[in-house]
Amino acid sequence: MSRIKFFYEDDLPLEMHKVRIVQKLDLVPIERRLQAINEAGNNTFLLRNRDIFLDMLTDSGVNAMSDQQLGAMMVADDSYAGSETFFRLTAKIEKIFGKKFFLPAHQGRACENIISQVFVTKGSIVPMNYHFTTTKTHIILNGGTVEEVPIDEAVVLNSTHPFKGNVDIDKLRTVIRKNGVEKIAFVRLEAGTNLIGGQPFSLENMREVRKVCDEFGLLLVLDASLLADNLHFIKVREENCQQLSIREITKAMSDLSDIIYFSARKLGCARGGGICTNNQAAFEKMRELVPLYEGFLTYGGMSVREIEAITVGLEETMDEDMINQGPQFIAFMAKELQKKGVPVVTPPGGLGCHVNAMDFVKHIPQTQYPAGALTAAVYLVSGVRGMERGTMSEQRDEKGIEHLADVELLRLAMPRRVFTLSQIKYAVDRIAWLYENRQLIGGLTFVEEPKILRFFFGKLAAISDWQAKLVAQFRKDFGDSL
Ligand code: F0G
Repeated sequence: MSRIKFFYEDDLPLEMHKVRIVQKLDLVPIERRLQAINEAGNNTFLLRNRDIFLDMLTDSGVNAMSDQQLGAMMVADDSYAGSETFFRLTAKIEKIFGKKFFLPAHQGRACENIISQVFVTKGSIVPMNYHFTTTKTHIILNGGTVEEVPIDEAVVLNSTHPFKGNVDIDKLRTVIRKNGVEKIAFVRLEAGTNLIGGQPFSLENMREVRKVCDEFGLLLVLDASLLADNLHFIKVREENCQQLSIREITKAMSDLSDIIYFSARKLGCARGGGICTNNQAAFEKMRELVPLYEGFLTYGGMSVREIEAITVGLEETMDEDMINQGPQFIAFMAKELQKKGVPVVTPPGGLGCHVNAMDFVKHIPQTQYPAGALTAAVYLVSGVRGMERGTMSEQRDEKGIEHLADVELLRLAMPRRVFTLSQIKYAVDRIAWLYENRQLIGGLTFVEEPKILRFFFGKLAAISDWQAKLVAQFRKDFGDSL
């Protein structure tokens, strides 16, 4: 992909695949979108697909599969126990990661449940480069707390740092020393750090984290859900790794990890998940929970078709042309938005293009959920569904006090191989128009607020009639356009 140069154009992300099955899309008029976002309580999780044009909510379980994956799904070996399909996956895991024990689980958070139940007890601490919503909740439910130890640059939204997902080694040591090593359940590294904009860590940093783990006798757990993006960035941004193949980088990361878990809804463009390790004692402890929460050890809550798709998808992840597509489309979108002055997270990461809501709607206080308001507004003017990643995605403390997020982001996820460049240009056009009209956007307030993971089901109302005003301005500028 990156090796193909254009003569007249600036380099564009060029797809190294062709589309062979399509799904028809509709764009409903803005008046219907206004109704829809209100029915959804201004929470894009609660929208229905029929009201959505470009679904950029997530890259989870919605990436396009390859012909090879679909083909493999047809030859899956169905059985409750002992399926050959399962053994094909374990062989692939061993080949790619060099881990001989594998536990299947129905998705990433199921792995987190198992790992947290086994290793986290009351008073435990889990240091990590950054939390993910479900990870943190599982750790808390088991009586532990999360201690984030990223480099300071992690939450600097406009930066040139190539590895904002890196751990600050001094902070990590301080957390271990301050709390006592016996309190540390394990150290967790999240590849393609989700909540700070899909930012990678470097292989060099991972080696340093490993040294600290060895020094204190701690387990290193790698969340590999967004590994594909992290691999791409190590390959293109880390000087010492440019000669390594994706397969070699994967193996090096795996050798540094005691336990690897992943959401196969992301890694391998399928659905499902799993945990792998060479640590027999850890494996045996975790194994007990699989039949209890997931299913028998040879399917773990997944259909055998999905297991076949993961096996092929993991192999395809070793192909640079495959894993480049997401980051290159994201970089393109970020660059086009920047040209129009829209504040985006830089450097662009994996997962999706992240818009800095705190700068986009400076006039909305954090207690009125600027990222949530921007997410609703983008849907309203474009039919593009993004996701709030800010204070709405946090939860209140025991006293009911709001926990203000470090960053307020609108995430526009880039499902791999799903959208075309003209669709991305459409999204950029509408978001740029919204930026020109940003003063019209107002805040939101919760009207239904669940205690746990409120961003999934919570409902909010607009604080004023700003949405009607935005619709009126849209009609003025766009005429009768959808
Ligand atoms: N870890 C990371 C880094 C993730 O991004 C996710 C999911 C999970 C764990 C949980 O995996 O969804 O299969 O249970 N992220 C999705 C997202 C939900 O939209 O970013 P899961």
